Amino acid sequence: MDQTPESGALSNEDGRVQTILRLEKDVRSCTRCRLCDGRIHAVPGEGSYSPQIVFVGEGPGAAEDRQGRPFVGRSGRFLDGMIEGIGLRREDVFITNVVKCRPPDNRDPRPDEIVACSDYLERQIELLAPRVVVTLGRYSMQRWFPGERITRIHGQVKEIAPGRVALAMYHPAAALRNPQWREAFAADMQKLPGLLEGK
Ligand code: URA
Ligand code: SF4
Repeated sequence: MDQTPESGALSNEDGRVQTILRLEKDVRSCTRCRLCDGRIHAVPGEGSYSPQIVFVGEGPGAAEDRQGRPFVGRSGRFLDGMIEGIGLRREDVFITNVVKCRPPDNRDPRPDEIVACSDYLERQIELLAPRVVVTLGRYSMQRWFPGERITRIHGQVKEIAPGRVALAMYHPAAALRNPQWREAFAADMQKLPGLLEGK
């Protein structure tokens, strides 16, 4: 054991990272909702543990369920390219989802599943303490922009805590399907560098 002045007690930073790792472990064995029944792997999320940006998608798809990692399929490659387009790498940000387990046949997550899983997301945001939370798609948007429509409010920024804002964006899968939404997605991404200034 290291005999540092703080030995016996974890430094705050070590404690924070330990808490994040513990939360990820809890997600991997979670049975709080029915989505645990059909999963191969729960997907807690991944990336930097000191990110300036946290991206929040909807829920794992087939590729994510197989690998236990978020956004590793076609949407993920699109998102990675967009992140690189603003001069960052995937490892610089944190990527997670509203529900951590794949809904069967990629159906939409149900309200009770979102509620069951919400405590994980809330705690992740608190522990990761990003400057910006980017919501990807409707379900993620609903958490911070309740009752809004994504076609109306994508690109909007809202303060959600002192020093923290949410930016609403289309889901990458939607952007891949529709050229107009793809353009909007790319334009909304361009707001990020400006939001990080002054952090
Ligand atoms: N779509 C999502 O919403 N999340 C993922 O992790 C992958 C695809
Ligand atoms: Fe638990 Fe969330 Fe998975 Fe439901 S979706 S089993 S609440 S981790």
